[in-house]
Amino acid sequence: MADADIRKGLAGVTVDTTAVSKVDPESNSLLYRGYPVQELAATQSFEAVAHLLWHGELPDAEQLAAFERFERAHRELDADVRAIIDALPGHAHPMDVLRTAVSAIGAAAPDVSDNARNADLRKARLLLAKIPAIVAYDQRRRRGQELIAPRDDLDYSRNFLWMTFGEEPDDVVAHAFTVSLILYAEHSFNASTFTARVITSTTSDLYSAVVGAIGALKGALHGGANEAVMHVFDEIGTADRVGPWLDEALAHKRKIMGFGHRVYKKGDSRVPTMKAALDTLVEHVGAADLAALYDELESEFVARKGIYPNLDYPSGPAYHLIGFDTLTFTPLFVAARVAGWSAHIMEQAASNALIRPLSAYDGVPERHVAGYVPTE
Ligand code: ACO
Repeated sequence: MADADIRKGLAGVTVDTTAVSKVDPESNSLLYRGYPVQELAATQSFEAVAHLLWHGELPDAEQLAAFERFERAHRELDADVRAIIDALPGHAHPMDVLRTAVSAIGAAAPDVSDNARNADLRKARLLLAKIPAIVAYDQRRRRGQELIAPRDDLDYSRNFLWMTFGEEPDDVVAHAFTVSLILYAEHSFNASTFTARVITSTTSDLYSAVVGAIGALKGALHGGANEAVMHVFDEIGTADRVGPWLDEALAHKRKIMGFGHRVYKKGDSRVPTMKAALDTLVEHVGAADLAALYDELESEFVARKGIYPNLDYPSGPAYHLIGFDTLTFTPLFVAARVAGWSAHIMEQAASNALIRPLSAYDGVPERHVAGYVPTE
């Protein structure tokens, strides 16, 4: 195979069709099942968007109510899953804790190997309902705080924040959080979604696919970037230090987290919506210094490299202002993206072909073990 035929990282390769979402770098747009994500973020709940991704249409009032009933009834952190989390060392990264907990839920599920669409839909709903309890409990135990029971009178976002912080969020905070979840919910064949599709293509189960996807999302080149953005902010400190910090970072060829994208080269279509939500939080909690640092790093880096922010750039600081620990940021991405992963898992299963690409061997030529004598 000629080197020219090899596309490292599958860059620019179209591997399949999907009806779940459309990422168009030319028009800089993102559609979920045909709807611009900005319109969904402005008008819908996260629950309605998850339904849209799984079923192809926004729910009517009855469908939404049925889904909400199911989701609210399955929010509790199961005792056996809690025991597994408690057995993990305190230094375990929250993404490792979440990956382990989801794996435990799958191992205990009686329908784990039932790959019928209805069973997958049930598993997807169940994981969507259960992940907030895992993420919230893990942050609380790190802070030496007790588990907080879910509330079934609150929507998904408000209950998530309630279980994490033990107080009801106000409208500004709840809205910004919901916007982030909707923007993170789906993004076509990104690395974690593709991982989930590869696992599904072997006829493995939805839980295994989600566990694999969590592993892929953890890396700093993908979902781990929202956490990494906050580490960068901490490292720089204040807006006046951006210039010298960038000189040093670029001299050492460091990647600046929260900037750049494999598909969008002229800016990430989700950023303006998340930036607007971040701005409301900045004003709400009075975080002018953080906002100045954000603006300065963006304008300096764009001016120097012509590389634009991706969604992780505004969402990291937004999660910080909401009160999440930096280590918890990427699990929040999981809570949202499990909706998109599940939609892709069901799409892959419905029209499956084992994903098994070829490789071009460039190792040593054939050779033989000294002393080996063929028997025939
Ligand atoms: N900081 C510094 N330089 C960068 C950055 C960055 N964030 N992004 C790209 N570049 C440079 C590369 O160094 C490379 O330069 P070179 O040609 O001189 O070697 C050039 O731009 C092309 O970069 P690639 O990494 O080859 O582009 P690719 O399309 O593979 O990368 C990626 C996309 C991995 C997201 C990259 O931009 C990156 O590492 N960004 C930082 C991590 C990040 O924010 N990830 C989040 C992704 S979006 C999401 O998960 C919501």
